[in-house]
Amino acid sequence: MQTVKVDLKDRSYNIHIENGLLNKTGDLISTLPVRKNIAIITNKTIAPLYLDIVKTKLKKTGFNVHVIILPDGEEHKNLNTITNIYNELIMMDFDRNSSIIALGGGVVGDMAGFAAATFFRGIPYIQIPTTLLSQVDSSVGGKTGVNLPGGKNLVGAFYQPKLVIIDPEVLKTLQITELRAGIAEVIKYGVILNNEFFKYLELNIDQAVKLDDETIAYIIKTSCSIKADITTQDEKEKGIRSFLNFGHTIGHAVETLTNYNEFTHGEAVAIGMAAISKLSEFWRFTDIENSNRLIALLQKSGLPTELPAFSLNDYIDTMMKDKKRAEAGINMVLMKQIGEVFLKLKTADELSLAMQTALNLK
Ligand SMILES: NC(=O)c1ccc[n+]([C@@H]2O[C@H](COP(=O)([O-])OP(=O)(O)OC[C@H]3O[C@@H](n4cnc5c(N)ncnc54)[C@H](O)[C@@H]3O)[C@@H](O)[C@H]2O)c1
Ligand SMILES: [Zn+2]
Repeated sequence: MQTVKVDLKDRSYNIHIENGLLNKTGDLISTLPVRKNIAIITNKTIAPLYLDIVKTKLKKTGFNVHVIILPDGEEHKNLNTITNIYNELIMMDFDRNSSIIALGGGVVGDMAGFAAATFFRGIPYIQIPTTLLSQVDSSVGGKTGVNLPGGKNLVGAFYQPKLVIIDPEVLKTLQITELRAGIAEVIKYGVILNNEFFKYLELNIDQAVKLDDETIAYIIKTSCSIKADITTQDEKEKGIRSFLNFGHTIGHAVETLTNYNEFTHGEAVAIGMAAISKLSEFWRFTDIENSNRLIALLQKSGLPTELPAFSLNDYIDTMMKDKKRAEAGINMVLMKQIGEVFLKLKTADELSLAMQTALNLK
């Protein structure tokens, strides 16, 4: 078993990674200071695949196990679903000594985590992420939350889990497009902080996409270490944590313009990373070798790198409406070289000129 420690003083926790780890759920959770009352929150797709094993192992170690099955889909990541979770917890006689397990991808994890953060002002929760994206990204770092009609992830809390249990074997039932979505975030980690890891990906990406055991375990562990490192340095996103948004500003615009139904989040981020590397080149912060390397690796992974055909105005308007932007413009994460990025404020005019020239938008 490999372990990454997220070091946040009294809120520190471990991320355990191993093939077949779902079988050890009971043993691992029983080492935590949690009481016997526990609710597994999962969804309709994951329940038939992995609920039984987790439930059986927990019962075997003496837990009193409840189950909440949510509908599947980002469209259910809202306050209605959270209210339903609260109501079910109340019906199960949950109190502040009970805890929650999130068994699923980022959607389940974000909602189960937010419910845990707010129910009785906070009860313990454990993440068992089942998509590559949730294993390398959303289950680590303690961001929880839901969407509002006005935008994604607008309501939430920073709330750390007590433990993250990663079983890479569950990725075998994941759709290939979902796997690639996770790969996009993995590539992002190389670009923002670790040139050596990026080189490893250049050499081993085919093995990763084929889910070779050793390769995927190494990739998950390294990605979790990078995210854990960033989180411990900047838990509340005042500085370095914003580097994780590399490729995301343009990526979000792509998601919004295509109504969230043409690309997975990871695909939109891949497009966003390719675009921002070209803009970084245009502003002379980086050179063409770096953007070419990034684009080549994305393409080798089967990820898209071309902006969908919307007008320059559509892109700029969408980015300027982003609720998370600054007053004077947009704080963008730009590339200096593979393994090094930085934050810079760009006005709408600067962005417009660059996107027109470097990305041929009309
Ligand atoms: N909290 C954070 O820091 C953070 C970071 C990144 C993304 N997110 C959030 O994560 C969400 C996206 O997460 P996601 O990409 O995991 O999507 P997801 O949770 O929607 O999962 C994708 C699909 O795969 C299915 N699935 C999950 N595991 C499976 C498995 N092992 N086998 C077969 N099918 C499986 C799911 O039911 C779903 O249909 C978004 O809501 C995003 O906002 C949060
Ligand atoms: Zn992302």
